[in-house]
Amino acid sequence: MQKPITVAIAGLGGRGKDTYAPMALSRPDLMKIVAIADIVPEKVADVAKTYGVPPEGCFSSAEEMLAQPRLADVLFVCTQDRQHVGHAIPALEKGYHILMEKPISPVLSECQRVLQAAKAAQRQVVVCHVLRYTPFFQKIKEVIDSGRIGRVVSVQSLENVVYWHQAHSFVRGNWRREEDTSPMILQKSCHDLDILLWLLGERCARVSSFGSLSHFREENAPAHSAARCRDCQAREGCPYDAYKIYLTDEETGVLHGHTGWPADIVCMHPTEAGIRAALEDGPYGRCVYRCDNDVVDHQVVNMELEHGQTVGFTMCAFTKTGGRTLKIMGTHGDIRADMHENFIDVEVYGGETEHIDVRTLAADLSGHAGGDIRMVEEFLEMLAAGGQPSGTLSTLEASIESHLAALAAEQSRKNGGAAVEIAPMRGL
Ligand SMILES: NC(=O)c1ccc[n+]([C@@H]2O[C@H](COP(=O)([O-])OP(=O)(O)OC[C@H]3O[C@@H](n4cnc5c(N)ncnc54)[C@H](O)[C@@H]3O)[C@@H](O)[C@H]2O)c1
Repeated sequence: MQKPITVAIAGLGGRGKDTYAPMALSRPDLMKIVAIADIVPEKVADVAKTYGVPPEGCFSSAEEMLAQPRLADVLFVCTQDRQHVGHAIPALEKGYHILMEKPISPVLSECQRVLQAAKAAQRQVVVCHVLRYTPFFQKIKEVIDSGRIGRVVSVQSLENVVYWHQAHSFVRGNWRREEDTSPMILQKSCHDLDILLWLLGERCARVSSFGSLSHFREENAPAHSAARCRDCQAREGCPYDAYKIYLTDEETGVLHGHTGWPADIVCMHPTEAGIRAALEDGPYGRCVYRCDNDVVDHQVVNMELEHGQTVGFTMCAFTKTGGRTLKIMGTHGDIRADMHENFIDVEVYGGETEHIDVRTLAADLSGHAGGDIRMVEEFLEMLAAGGQPSGTLSTLEASIESHLAALAAEQSRKNGGAAVEIAPMRGL
């Protein structure tokens, strides 16, 4: 029997601790956690206990961990957006393979520096574009590649962010300010830009974009509202009321629970009392109209790909349910697909419509529609086999293409929507 791949994790938050670490329990044959680092001691203690990480494998920061000789085969870089490069490059130099959370970096030259470091060290880097590993998108890719709908000419794609997810992550939470993290189109939608380029097997040639922060601003605050939901007299009619979002309220029909994500970001082991205490004075109890957020809540991106296909992509906060909605239009048929509704309809012109129920494609669609775990499995299995990346794996080179499109879109948006050519950004 092969030995499991040994893993070190930098950053024990929603991704490092809650999403990826549990694979050491479900696939002990494939993954063993041997080193962990976080600046919050409780998180280190929690993960050490759950996964049996010895004291000599526990560190109070990624920097401290990376000052040691190499401790594992792979480093999972799960710290915040602007820390990824600073953790990945020394790790590559030490000989770690890397599973890197997205975005690589909001600075293009830094993305390219990671690529150079990976090439120099001859190590593999996979960026966590989890959508590629979902049965939903893998099936769509299979249909496109089969040629059944002919040559794809145009795509319409919609990212339904969900109103409370926007409030949690991009108004009150970690990703609310571009200078601290990344622009929204990179932070949230690099997944979409990656998946669209991957589905079509193309690179982007030029981009234009519009969008703004339209709603979560002080001038839109309702009468009698306050700086914190705790003190607000307009809570009843406000869907962004933190008490509704983090404490399931059957009356209002808000269904997300108060033990899993996102409540476990508000307090580590959520209980009703714990959440209420965190909302009293913490960041997640702030009025959404009076935060220090600046990232957009809606943005459209038009892309022309290198062989002339066009793509219209919209990211919008103001949706009740999540997932992606797509229409892919080919010369001999089209595909209509909805990730939330779990269907893919393939319509061949003058022929039959095939209705695919995505729930029949895989037993487990949890964690980004089944993408989180499949991505880690595929990466570790590739390393265990000592092999080369498959066409699915979201390599650094492929991921940089999505970053180029996102950064060009942001440049366009900030420049009144003027088209931005990608080739000069590639240094061609
Ligand atoms: N692939 C996806 O679908 C997806 C989804 C959500 C988030 N992300 C990305 O994953 C990354 C982490 O997101 P998250 O939701 O886990 O955030 P998080 O804030 O929950 O976790 C980040 C962790 O890093 C720790 N940290 C900060 N500085 C550190 C240091 N110097 N050394 C070690 N640990 C340090 C923090 O204490 C925190 O526990 C972000 O870049 C985010 O964009 C990706």
